[in-house]
Amino acid sequence: MKRNNNTVFDCSVIDLPQICNDAGNITILENGNNIPFDVKRVYYLYDIPGGASRGGHAHYQLEQYIIAGCGSFEVILNDGGNSKKITLNNPNKALHIVPGLWRELDNFSSGCITLVLASELYDEADYIRKYEDFLKFKKER
Ligand code: TYD
Repeated sequence: MKRNNNTVFDCSVIDLPQICNDAGNITILENGNNIPFDVKRVYYLYDIPGGASRGGHAHYQLEQYIIAGCGSFEVILNDGGNSKKITLNNPNKALHIVPGLWRELDNFSSGCITLVLASELYDEADYIRKYEDFLKFKKER
């Protein structure tokens, strides 16, 4: 298991490259170039009802870039000791979430699209879904 003593301070908001012209903007992410892991899976959240919360889990191995493709939302990160709240509201920025952190996503704006780039294929065995199990996992380190 790698990097399992990560803290919220290991997560940061990254400025992504943009190409802008009169017809709009393009933001580009390329494996091996400007993303610190190989992307194995992309998924997106949409049609999120007002007041909904998502996340509420951690991963042993998975790391992610989370991007507000459209609209805004908040991510609350927790490492069992510290917590940090990040607002994402710009498709030109990605929140890098390293493995071993609890995350919750809420305050989604209407019509929001949350784009997620993930370092692993979906694997339920990589999830920690109970906060008490997460705290035990962090204390073991
Ligand atoms: P989950 O990761 O818990 O969603 P969120 O963190 O956004 O609240 O996933 C919700 C459900 O979707 C859960 O039953 C697992 C399933 N799922 C997949 O089958 N494949 C995937 O790639 C993802 C992200 C979720």
